[in-house]
Amino acid sequence: MPHILHVAGARPNFMKIAPIVDAFGRDPDFRQTLVHTGQHYDEAMSKVFFEELGIPRPDVDLGVGSGSHAVQTARVMIEFEKVVSETRPDLVLVVGDVNSTVACALVAAKLGIAVAHVEAGLRSFDWGMPEEINRVVTDRLSDLLFTTEESGNRNLAAEGVPADRVHFVGNVMIDTLLTHRDRALATGITQQLDVAPGTYGVVTMHRPSNVDREETLAPIVEALAEVARTRPVLFPIHPRTRSNLERFGLADALGGVRLLSPLGYLEFLGLVAQAGFVLTDSGGIQEETTVLGVPCLTARPNTERPVTVTHGTNRLIEPTRDGILEAVADLGQRAKGATRAPELWDGHAAERIVARVRTFFEARAGAPAGR
Ligand code: UD1
Repeated sequence: MPHILHVAGARPNFMKIAPIVDAFGRDPDFRQTLVHTGQHYDEAMSKVFFEELGIPRPDVDLGVGSGSHAVQTARVMIEFEKVVSETRPDLVLVVGDVNSTVACALVAAKLGIAVAHVEAGLRSFDWGMPEEINRVVTDRLSDLLFTTEESGNRNLAAEGVPADRVHFVGNVMIDTLLTHRDRALATGITQQLDVAPGTYGVVTMHRPSNVDREETLAPIVEALAEVARTRPVLFPIHPRTRSNLERFGLADALGGVRLLSPLGYLEFLGLVAQAGFVLTDSGGIQEETTVLGVPCLTARPNTERPVTVTHGTNRLIEPTRDGILEAVADLGQRAKGATRAPELWDGHAAERIVARVRTFFEARAGAPAGR
């Protein structure tokens, strides 16, 4: 019976891993182990997602915590190698593009264990983004590459990845969204925050390129304060951004922007689903707003998820004061074109992954050793 070892490390991993662990768990032909690297560790950044999404308690928590890229990646590798050496799984499955993703893929590949990457092939072509490095390296190390959109298939083909390793399965994050949308709407988050559906903006901002330097963060803060003069602006704030606001003395400049602690999955989804617009630099939120039909302004020069622009509600805008103000002013004027759900974002991606993994092991059982 193949033994699958799943890795989850940081907040955006948890909603991706949930339907995968669930689908493998329902299949008696597989055995599974869940490892949490501890890259994110706060109750609000981690535990609440496990509880709300019904993810089983991790079998192992590596407890690595925060650190520079090298420190964090190295700590995950050191601890993860011990776990893999002891448990000898048949496949290590990693999701997304965080430091834990690349660290665990590298350990597994060096120990000769097959690697599956969920959300493979996405490319921003921006080597200044730590996630881009993580994506490219993880894909190079992977035996099974599960893609969410056509651009991923094209990118991998252009990089010379053999087509038989690439499987277009759809988007597991959307599996989770579709499963929990009704519960999210029932949380009563808009009443709790006293905002009327359709009238407010939700902001998330945590990319190092936007928030780690005062020159980039100050104009964003200025624009948000300006927007908040005309409508409610709710800003569930990431710990990285909160500490930078304090470090640069910018907290007061936010004016009427309502800062919130990081929200759990259901409250956040409920809030986004009923927003007038979302302003973000996140990856996953571009996808969620596409499915929810909520206008999304992405404050970045590029996106690794182009289908959210061609099919969805997403628009790239300059992360500057004027860029943000013009885009928000423009929201009312722009006819909201019909959005099309991207192909295979249908709630069944995790089932397709299980089916492909099964085929992979069947083929391996009948084939001579080696890749
Ligand atoms: C990481 C991912 C990023 C993802 C983001 C989502 C990498 C390279 N980056 O960035 O792709 O979009 O997660 O959140 O893997 N902190 C806490 N509590 C926590 C975790 C972090 O307070 O539970 C603080 C620490 O001060 C830490 C800082 O947040 O230094 C940044 O955390 P880190 O995991 O290094 O990167 P993120 O910015 O969260």
